[in-house]
Amino acid sequence: MNIARRDFGTPTIVDAPLVSLTIDGVAVHAPAGTSVMRAALSAGIGIPKLCATDSLAPFGSCRVCLVEIDGRKGMPASCTTPVENGMVVRTQTPSLAKVRKGVVELYISDHPLDCLTCAANGDCELQDVAGAVGLRDVRYGFAGENHLGQPKDESNPYFAFDPSKCIVCSRCVRACADVQGTFALTLTGRGFDSKVAASESEPFAQSECVSCGACVQACPTATLIEKSVIENGQPDRVVKTTCAYCGVGCSFDAQLKGDQLIRMVPDAVGGANEGHSCVKGRFAWGYATHKDRVTTPQIRERIDQPWRDVGWDEAIAFAAQRFVAIRARYGRHALGGISSSRCTNEEVFVVQKMVRAAFGNNNIDTCARVCHSPTGYGLKETFGTSAGTQDFKSVDHADVILLIGANPTDAHPVFASRMKRRLRQGAQLIVVDPRRIDLVRSAHVAARHHLPLRPGTNVAMINALAHVVVTEGLVDEAFVAARCERESFERWRAFVASPECSPEHVARDTGVSAAEIRAAARLYAGARNAAIYYGLGVTEHSQGTTMVMGLANLAMATGHIGREGVGVNPLRGQNNVQGACDMGSFPHEFSGYRHISDAAVRGAFDSKWQVHLDPEPGLRIPNMFAEAIGGAFRGLYVQGEDVAQSDPNSAHVADALRSLDCLVVHDLFHNETSNYAHVFLPGTSFLEKDGTYTNAERRINRVRPVMAPLAGISEWEAVCRLSTALGYPMSYGNAAEIMDEIAALTPTFAGVSFAKLDREGGMQWPVNDAASLGTRILHENGFVRGKGKFFLTRYVPTDEQSNRRYPLLLTTGRILSQYNVGTQTRRTANVAWHARDLLEIHPHDAELRGVVDGDTVLLSSRKGSTTLAAHVTSRVPEGVVYTTFHHPGTAANVVTTENSDWATNCPEYKVTAVEVRPTNERTRVDA
Ligand code: SF4
Ligand code: SF4
Ligand code: SF4
Ligand code: FES
Repeated sequence: MNIARRDFGTPTIVDAPLVSLTIDGVAVHAPAGTSVMRAALSAGIGIPKLCATDSLAPFGSCRVCLVEIDGRKGMPASCTTPVENGMVVRTQTPSLAKVRKGVVELYISDHPLDCLTCAANGDCELQDVAGAVGLRDVRYGFAGENHLGQPKDESNPYFAFDPSKCIVCSRCVRACADVQGTFALTLTGRGFDSKVAASESEPFAQSECVSCGACVQACPTATLIEKSVIENGQPDRVVKTTCAYCGVGCSFDAQLKGDQLIRMVPDAVGGANEGHSCVKGRFAWGYATHKDRVTTPQIRERIDQPWRDVGWDEAIAFAAQRFVAIRARYGRHALGGISSSRCTNEEVFVVQKMVRAAFGNNNIDTCARVCHSPTGYGLKETFGTSAGTQDFKSVDHADVILLIGANPTDAHPVFASRMKRRLRQGAQLIVVDPRRIDLVRSAHVAARHHLPLRPGTNVAMINALAHVVVTEGLVDEAFVAARCERESFERWRAFVASPECSPEHVARDTGVSAAEIRAAARLYAGARNAAIYYGLGVTEHSQGTTMVMGLANLAMATGHIGREGVGVNPLRGQNNVQGACDMGSFPHEFSGYRHISDAAVRGAFDSKWQVHLDPEPGLRIPNMFAEAIGGAFRGLYVQGEDVAQSDPNSAHVADALRSLDCLVVHDLFHNETSNYAHVFLPGTSFLEKDGTYTNAERRINRVRPVMAPLAGISEWEAVCRLSTALGYPMSYGNAAEIMDEIAALTPTFAGVSFAKLDREGGMQWPVNDAASLGTRILHENGFVRGKGKFFLTRYVPTDEQSNRRYPLLLTTGRILSQYNVGTQTRRTANVAWHARDLLEIHPHDAELRGVVDGDTVLLSSRKGSTTLAAHVTSRVPEGVVYTTFHHPGTAANVVTTENSDWATNCPEYKVTAVEVRPTNERTRVDA
């Protein structure tokens, strides 16, 4: 069965007046600017094509799509000819048929005729076109000069390139440039000698290619094709679902053959990604069936014993009996749970419900504690809602983009591609980051300003930017007067106008010249539309919340909030960080960010859940660990999070976990945390889940099961069974019923149901009576809290300062091919690109220490030390070193400290004073 979607040949045109024309005698109406090809197909009239595809602007090279138009000479290409009022078009005439057949005959004469054994058989546009034009033989034979027999490039782990099948349509080259924005491919040579080349005619794996797969998707033949299709054949059915990696939340067609997943193809109408993807979502899904998956529940009496496989009943009974015993002996506050941003909204909701209703306390926290908790707090206080203000499409209208503490090309690649497209259209970019991230300068993109501030000085920087705004008359007075709290604004204005906030004053702390800060502030404030995008480089600081508030202040003061093209936008790390927070995973909040102490809200939950809920906020993760070491906290349920590896000061976390009487880990694989566990409950990968994720745009997307749970039951079902065994019965017929309960209890989700999501596609919350199909942009006619509130953001230098013993500052981040602690991506072919974590160090700092590229170095802080390979590079400034944290062997969090954000306890991962030394053995490793 052919599952290919209908390709209209050229992109859709919206918001244009309709024009009327006649195609093959049929009256057709299409928006002005639409190609004749698209207009014809919209009316059910297909025109053969090869070089056109609707994800790319038309190119007009293959000459297969010719038509005749009254009053026009010759045969224009329908893909490059826009519709006009009164146009009369013919797509089928004897002359057209003859010319088309001749063109296709030429293509086929230089193409292998191995259709029956070709991997694209049944999914090849050349094959389709040959059939459509009625080609029956090739007059020229195959004896002359041709491109057949050229060597294949199979260097990429996920796709192959067979140049003998290339028809030089340039779709791949255009996809790499226009969709992905990497410009890794070119057409070299002319005429007959034209061919596709990656970078300087290198193998794909060694080229600049980032394996997004856009070229593979665009290729009309088997020239670029997934190895999974070559090995397993063409898929025959589709399940629409959502990527389980980053907070972009790309929608995919999971294409299967029977029960076997063959490939993931980004959904052309997926709201977040519109047909694009990155290497992780498209290719790195093999971990789901990796041999390391634990699919049977396991228990053990003590953590020094081996695991024993048991059935679900025994495992649940064992866990429940231990938790009940702890509750009896130490009281209900001795228990707690941690929910996961990798799990669905429904799975997270039942976990927090179990903790509140069955454990009997509010000791529920989530991994957002260690990433975006300052976003939740800071935006709630200033704007009234703990969420980003825009959808991704909004960046298409931004004239200036202020990117702070985020590296989207690695961490949010599909959004980065969209942002790069906007930059190529002329938007200006300001990058605030200690490191020279790719966006500072890459193919056809260059930041107007790069402010490489010292780690830990974000707040000084935002105050200096604000200082320029208020002292140079750049405040949007009308916006502030109409939309913001006057008193808080005046206090803030006086504060940031003070000399201590001036660019000149902070230049020494930040390491950035006052002139650059002033120029950047003027550019942002003076733009018609300026948008802020930020990441963990903002939040993971001791002043993370202060900085989020500073961003909100800046946006309000300049009026860059509440409409298209502006806003304050956190780029969320994990796929469901937004959702996990929305679902009431924090110890002080119910779903929808309502405080636990609100009697009316609590009453609604009491009544729905038939239980009397604790009005006191519970413990945050760091408090759970501290209390565990102190002896008062004894039992913990952890859903899909490897806290022993991902949380700061690993030794302290290990001490806490070791102190527990019962640790239940619910996950896909054994990990560092399960070393301390007594019960292991096998979880489900995204391919087995039925539910929803909420991405960084607040878009609630459906996740649909591609295969049955390998462990036999869903994660939410296991949680319900545990809760029931603890004496609080929970049961649902399916995940849709959990969403119904969420909707009933959460005003921002009031209009959400699986049936509606299946009908309408993803929707951005709030979804309710006032916005039945969701809300693209927040705060358009007023802030959710009423008037926007300014907060004073006094800069307090972190305690973590470099000194003689630890003279360098370590900051951390992600790389494109890997994801967080690598649990998933390390079990895929993505290790081809990042087999180990590297420590980036500036050449001057390296030379001072006698470190050369590739050396193994000892990285030490006040908290601990670890070894890893050095990469000497000027991407980092002097005095700063940088690493990723994807590999447990590196244990980067051995060195990070317990410093945390004053408001939310989000760890200060981004600033650790360290020293770097070559190790004694000076093992040379390949960096
Ligand atoms: S996979 Fe992506 S980056 Fe690589 S060549 Fe193709 S389009 Fe370009
Ligand atoms: S590799 Fe495919 S998309 Fe690229 S030019 Fe050749 S046939 Fe066209
Ligand atoms: S950008 Fe993020 S959500 Fe999209 S495919 Fe990549 S990892 Fe998945
Ligand atoms: S499809 Fe129109 S010229 Fe190729």
